[in-house]
Amino acid sequence: MALREILVAPDPRLKIKARPVETFDDALRTLLDDMVETMYAAKGIGLAAPQVGVPSRAIVMDLAREGEPPAPRKFVNPEIVWASDEEVPCEEGCLSVPGQYADVTRPERVRVRYRDETGVRHEIDCDGLLAVCIQHEMDHLEGVLFVDHLSALKRNMMLRKVQKAQRQKTGS
Ligand code: NI
Repeated sequence: MALREILVAPDPRLKIKARPVETFDDALRTLLDDMVETMYAAKGIGLAAPQVGVPSRAIVMDLAREGEPPAPRKFVNPEIVWASDEEVPCEEGCLSVPGQYADVTRPERVRVRYRDETGVRHEIDCDGLLAVCIQHEMDHLEGVLFVDHLSALKRNMMLRKVQKAQRQKTGS
C-alpha cells in the first residue's frame, strides 16, 4: 500500500465527472487499499478516487468510532436507487477543503447499489452518518464538493481561506 496525495480545492481535477469502473482487477484493489491508507493518514472518514487524482467511481469510508476496531468499507460504481423525502442538515467537512465545515442538507435516508472490489453487487440502506458520508463521497464522483451546496458567498469565503492556508503551508 502507498499514500497518495490528496488534492485540495480549487484543483480542477476535483471538478471532473468520474468514469465507471469496468475492470475489477488488482490495479483497482491497490487503488482502494491506497485510498484507505491515505484516508487513515489524513484522519478522514471518507475518500473518493477523484480526491487522489483518479477519475474513477470508487469510494472508501470508515465510520468506526474512536476505540472501535477499523472497519474500512469500499464502494465501486455506487448509485442511489432511492432517497427519502425527509431531509436533514448535518455539519460536513472534506479532506479537499481542509479546515472548513458547514451544514449541508441532504436526504435523511438513501438506498445505494454498488459493487465491491471483486465486482460483486450489493445494495444497502443508509441512514445517520453513513447516509451523509456516502452522499458526500458520491458527490465527488460528479465533481461536486460540499461547498457547492452553500451560497456563493459562503463557498468563496471558505475557498479563499483554504487557498490562503495552502500558500502559507508551501511558503509561496
Ligand atoms: Ni469530501
